[in-house]
Amino acid sequence: MAKLRTVFFCTECGHEAPRWLGQCPACRAWNTLVEEPQGRRAGARGARRTAPGREQAAEPVRLADVAGAETLRWTSGLDEFDYVLGGGIVPGSLVLVGGEPGVGKSTILLQVAARLHAHGEGTLYVSGEESAAQVRLRADRLGGGAGDVVFLGETELEPILERAAQLRPAVLFVDSIQTVYTAAIEGAPGNVSQVRECAARLQRFAKEAGTAVFLVGHVTKGGMVAGPKTLEHIVDTVLYFEGGANLDHRVLRATKNRFGGVDEIGVFRMTARGLEPVSNPSELFLGERTRGVSGTAVVGTMEGTRPLLVEVQGLCTKTTYGAPQRVATGFDRQRLALLLAVLEKRAGLAFGQLDVFLNIVGGVRIVETAADLAVAAALASSVFDRELPGDAVFLGEIGLGGELRAIGQIERRLAEAARMGFAQAFVPRRAVPARPPQGIRLAPLDDVRGLVEALFR
Ligand code: TYD
Ligand code: MG
Repeated sequence: MAKLRTVFFCTECGHEAPRWLGQCPACRAWNTLVEEPQGRRAGARGARRTAPGREQAAEPVRLADVAGAETLRWTSGLDEFDYVLGGGIVPGSLVLVGGEPGVGKSTILLQVAARLHAHGEGTLYVSGEESAAQVRLRADRLGGGAGDVVFLGETELEPILERAAQLRPAVLFVDSIQTVYTAAIEGAPGNVSQVRECAARLQRFAKEAGTAVFLVGHVTKGGMVAGPKTLEHIVDTVLYFEGGANLDHRVLRATKNRFGGVDEIGVFRMTARGLEPVSNPSELFLGERTRGVSGTAVVGTMEGTRPLLVEVQGLCTKTTYGAPQRVATGFDRQRLALLLAVLEKRAGLAFGQLDVFLNIVGGVRIVETAADLAVAAALASSVFDRELPGDAVFLGEIGLGGELRAIGQIERRLAEAARMGFAQAFVPRRAVPARPPQGIRLAPLDDVRGLVEALFR
């Protein structure tokens, strides 16, 4: 056997380096390079590069002559799942489903498999994580025909591909990519090179057979466990499943999608019989809204093309020791610091002796600047210790001069607020739409000073 070459891989981004480095030159992460032996084993079972059943090279074709794959999609009937994918599963696509262990990746994919099966689409569910008996238990729990799903307990890539080539399922589920290995490559399952090679071979299979392949990838809080990050380039679609252990809802988010919009979300609730789509997410996120206290405001954010109402909570308390604290959950800390500085300078609120805590309720993360006004309103409300009107939403970006700036898609946000029974909306004057939705009164504002005056003076 040829002498093995050793290379180093970044477990974050998959960058390949000839020697060890403390910092990855590609993604700048520290201590992420790991050593992995390279090289193919001569004569190994999977050493051939083509997928089973493929002997010929591809022929060039005119695009217009390609058989009409353009509109075909398989819908699972699990509405939120289909929606996040952009309207269903595209044949021949490779989809990565990432998320922390226990979030519900296996559950949702088994549900999808069961529904596809019920619609007459063949599926194959491969698991290297759990035994057939364990998956059977889950299927019993889920009901809904999950017992009819065809299961294969296998971790070696070549037999998986052989079975898939025989069975020709519409959709192949591989749970998880970290447990799959090929003997053609050195190294243990879960290694960066193993994960990349197996994913690449599965992708080739997907394209050639027209089978959609779903890969489960575990991601831990620290982003560790080699794999998912390095796979994002290879796959067509990346779905992340989010939701803390203490929350009963889960958010499925498309962070990359060659066949649909990114940042689309689907919301689910974990029940005793699997994941249930939540058709009215705003209701869920506002469900436990605190009333009668200062420091809470409601904002209409956009998640992909969908408006979503969420509650923003601010708490400002006197600093008792050392430098004032600034703590933000679900919101960018730098943005919070900026908004505090603007409120101090342009609206005369003093935060120098105050600890500031900001929380977006329900485990939501807001990255949009459209939430600035709601954050400012919640913080000001806490400083004055005066409640905000309970029927109001706040929409608007704040500039460094304290001015309110227009935001995108304000009509859709207002329509969602009106639908959820909100009666007034504080908005930037320059963003007032020509025809606001019925039932909601607009309070146009010029700047943060105007906000504080309208609410507290
Ligand atoms: P699982 O799909 O195994 O997570 P992952 O594959 O992402 O690691 O889901 C695990 C959790 O979901 C587990 O804590 C049990 C819970 N669960 C329910 O609450 N209801 C159900 O019907 C099922 C199947 C699981
Ligand atoms: Mg699992």
